[in-house]
Amino acid sequence: MRGLKWMRPEYTSLFKRAYKACEQSYAPYSHFRVGAALLCEDGSVITGVNVENRSFGLTICAERNAIAAAITAGKTKFKALVIATPDAAYPVSPCGACRQVISEFMPASATVIFGNAEDSYMTSTVGELLPHDALHDLSDSIHDHPAHA
Ligand code: THU
Repeated sequence: MRGLKWMRPEYTSLFKRAYKACEQSYAPYSHFRVGAALLCEDGSVITGVNVENRSFGLTICAERNAIAAAITAGKTKFKALVIATPDAAYPVSPCGACRQVISEFMPASATVIFGNAEDSYMTSTVGELLPHDALHDLSDSIHDHPAHA
């Protein structure tokens, strides 16, 4: 765990975008605001926030919403993902469901940073967060299939 002053400069603005997005979080049940920022291969940044639901299981995490928004905007390749929250005393890593969704769109080598408030963050990769990635070959073969060309 490191202080934000140690973050690589290329990621500090991405972190700020994720942290700022938390203001838009819809979290009336957990009061746990989360923001995510995706750095697309073309250099653009797409953000997402957690959107909770009174039927709790329908809650969608910030990083999954960022990915959905990016795909909707026509972006399909991503270099890095930051997840930020002002509401934890430690950096919060993506949940299991989100790890699976992240691995659909980002290579194992891609950087994932998660941090809280101003004081600490961790740097990881998609492969570290989801080792022994289930069905990865399957999705490769689906994307290679002529029907998806
Ligand atoms: N949450 C996220 O949005 N991303 C994470 O990485 C962890 C958890 C949200 C889901 C829920 O709205 C709240 O945080 C508490 O779990």
